[in-house]
Amino acid sequence: MPTQLPDGFTERDQQLWVEGVSLQALAQTHGTPLFVYSQAAIINALAAYQRGLYGRRHLICYAMKANSSLAILQTLVRAGCGLDIVSGGELERALRAGVEPSKVIFSGVGKTRTEMRRALDVGIGCFNVESVAELEVLGDVAQGMGLRAPVSLRVNPNVDAQTHPYISTGLKDNKFGIAHEDVVGAYQRAAAHPGLRVVGIDCHIGSQITQAAPYLDAMDRMLDLVQAIEACGIAIEHIDFGGGLGIDYHGDTPPSADALWQALLAKLDARGYGERTICIEPGRSLVGNAGVCLTEVLYLKPGEHKNFCIVDAAMNDLPRPALYQAYHQIVPVQTPKADTPALTWDVVGPVCESGDWLGRDRELAVRPGDCLAVMSAGAYCMSMASNYNTRGRAAEVLVAGERVQVIRERESAEDLMRSERPLS
Ligand code: LLP
Repeated sequence: MPTQLPDGFTERDQQLWVEGVSLQALAQTHGTPLFVYSQAAIINALAAYQRGLYGRRHLICYAMKANSSLAILQTLVRAGCGLDIVSGGELERALRAGVEPSKVIFSGVGKTRTEMRRALDVGIGCFNVESVAELEVLGDVAQGMGLRAPVSLRVNPNVDAQTHPYISTGLKDNKFGIAHEDVVGAYQRAAAHPGLRVVGIDCHIGSQITQAAPYLDAMDRMLDLVQAIEACGIAIEHIDFGGGLGIDYHGDTPPSADALWQALLAKLDARGYGERTICIEPGRSLVGNAGVCLTEVLYLKPGEHKNFCIVDAAMNDLPRPALYQAYHQIVPVQTPKADTPALTWDVVGPVCESGDWLGRDRELAVRPGDCLAVMSAGAYCMSMASNYNTRGRAAEVLVAGERVQVIRERESAEDLMRSERPLS
C-alpha cells in the first residue's frame, strides 16, 4: 500500500477504499478496466481554488480536455465552474452538461469557421485567440452574423514552465499564443475590427507545473502587456492565467491552489491590478488525483532480464506512460497474501506494441486475478483513451459517499463498429 493516498482514497481492513466503497467491490461489480472517481475529491480540489480567489472577481473555467465525461462536467458546473473548451465537440458536451454559455472560454490554435459560428450562436463568454490570422477570420465570421465576438488574445510570455517538453506551451518555439512583441499590434487590429470586442488577455504556460516561480514570471509579463495595451486606449476587463498547476504523481510537491493564488494575488495587488476579473483554466489539478483505473492481473511472465505483469488495461486506456514516460503509482487494492513474493515487474497491457507499458520496474507482490489500481488517473486518461486494437473504452463510475453511479458504460465491439459502413 502507498504511504500517502490522495484525497478521497483510504486504506481500511487491508483494502483500498474510495470514499465509502471498496475498490475491490467496484471491480467485482463493474469489471475491469474501470475508472473510478471520488466526487468529494473533485469538489475539494475546486474548493482550494475557490478559497484562493475568495473575495475577488473571478471565473474558474475547468479545462475539460482533462476529463470531459458528462458527469464530471456536471459535478464541476454545479459547483460553480465555467468551462474552457478547445473544439466544437467539447462545446456540445459543455452545453449538454448544463454550463451557462457566458461561462465558456474557447481556446486552441485551430478553430474552424463552423466552430466559431456555433460558439457565437450560443453566446460563449470569450474566444482565446492564438494568431492574427485567426483574429481576422473570427472578426469576419462574427461580422457576417451581425455580431461582435468577445476576444482575448493568448500571449506567449516566453517563460519556461520547467515541465516535460510535450506539455510546455509558453516558450517562443511552441505553436501557442502570440509572441510578446506582436501583442500590442494585434490588440490594435482587434480593437479596430467591427466584428470583434476586446474583453481580456490570456496565457497558458504549460502543464504539470510544480513551482510558483514560472507563474509569477508570466504574471509580470502579462501585466506589462496590459499596461502597454491600455496605454493605447484598449481596455482589458479580465486577465486569464491559464491552467497548468501540477499534481502529486510520485513525490511531486506542487504548491496548493490556495497557496499559489495567495502569492499571485500579492503580486497582482502590488502592481495595482487586484480589482481586475481573474480567469483561470485548471484541468489536471481539479480531477487528476480524484481518479484511479482498476485493472486485473491476467498473467505473470517472469523472464531472464525482465518480469512482465500483464494486466487488462493498456495504453489505449492509459496513454500517458507511452506518450510522456509518465509515472503513475500502481498499487494492489488488497494487501497481498503473506505467501506472495514481491518481485520487480514491468506492468504492461495486452496491446501489440512495446510502448504499451503502464509502469516499469515496480516492486509488487501479485498473482493472476489480483486487482491493481493505477493511481492519479483522473486527468488525461479517459479523455485521451482510444480504441486501438479494437479495444472498447473502459467503464467509469463516480462515487459519492456510499453512492456509486455508472457514468459511462463499457464500450462493446458493436459500439465500436456502429459508424462504419461495410461493403455490400
Ligand atoms: N488551458 C489551456 C489553453 C491548455 O492548453 C491546457 C492544457 C489547460 C488550460 C489545462 O492545463 P492543466 O491545468 O490540465 O495542466 N495530455 C497532457 C497534458 C496536456 C495539457 C494540454 N493543455 C498530459 O497528460 O500530461
